[in-house]
Amino acid sequence: MLQIKARIISNKRCKGNYRHCIVNAKSLAKASNPGQFLNIRVSDGLKPFLRRPFSVHNINGSNLEILYEVAGEGTKLLADKNPGEYLDIIGPLGHGFDCRQEANRQTILIGGGIGIAPLLFLSRKIKSKNKIALIGARTKSQVLCEKEFRSLGCDVKIATDDGSAGFKGRVTALLKKVLQANRPTGQQVTIYACGPRSMLKAVCSIAMQNNIPAQVSLEEHMSCGIGACLGCVIKTRKGLERVCKEGPVFNREDLTWGKNEN
Ligand SMILES: Cc1cc2nc3c(=O)[nH]c(=O)nc-3n(C[C@H](O)[C@H](O)[C@H](O)COP(=O)(O)OP(=O)(O)OC[C@H]3O[C@@H](n4cnc5c(N)ncnc54)[C@H](O)[C@@H]3O)c2cc1C
Ligand code: FES
Repeated sequence: MLQIKARIISNKRCKGNYRHCIVNAKSLAKASNPGQFLNIRVSDGLKPFLRRPFSVHNINGSNLEILYEVAGEGTKLLADKNPGEYLDIIGPLGHGFDCRQEANRQTILIGGGIGIAPLLFLSRKIKSKNKIALIGARTKSQVLCEKEFRSLGCDVKIATDDGSAGFKGRVTALLKKVLQANRPTGQQVTIYACGPRSMLKAVCSIAMQNNIPAQVSLEEHMSCGIGACLGCVIKTRKGLERVCKEGPVFNREDLTWGKNEN
């Protein structure tokens, strides 16, 4: 785990409320693996007191990229930062995706909204030649990273709630459709997902019904981000686990989604 001051190279609006930030952070870029996250101090003052967690979206040489949604106070402050300013970053944190799967396995990456953020870096690291990226968004203008996934050789499929682009409906309904279409080939599949909790729960249930391994990245609320405060503990089949330390990526069979969970 490192703590560095990273110089902002750019911090631009990409679509709607979404922003793309590039920082120069050689040591962090070298140490980061897909699914790990960074805890960023968004202000020099005491407000907000807590750092904000963001997934590593991409690495390009010594530059590290994050993709974020302006959601509240902290992300608004982050959006106001200009190139040349510095960000205090702790990372890489947490346990990321296990991407050591065989090249002949089919990979399905599924992201809902800003949940697509960690999947681009993952897609670059996965050796599989058969990658499908399912991108879920409310509407066409909020579809993220379509071009980037295509340029990495992914077969990109989009689902929008209002049908303005791609499949009309939830990205999990699109996942079911894709699995049905693929079943005759009998190819081994692994699913990687990030997005809202309800989406991840549905992904795990579909993966279980189809007997497919799935790794999902949870975006629980966090305080310390380094395993010390126990503010992000969830109940898993292995016992109580910290999303910031044992996660944020979990195997679907370890998650209970139970009432008593967090
Ligand atoms: C491991 C991890 C990785 C993440 N990666 C990214 C990323 O790559 N890009 C990105 O945009 N966001 C990511 N998030 C979520 C991001 O951390 C929150 O959106 C951010 O902290 C909100 O801060 P804020 O001060 O702007 O909003 P706040 O004022 O704190 O909250 C604004 C709204 O967002 C909700 N919110 C706050 N934190 C979370 C959270 N962790 N999960 C879900 N809802 C939340 C609040 O309930 C509230 O409704 C990640 C979270 C985790 C735990
Ligand atoms: S956020 Fe403190 S233990 Fe996870």
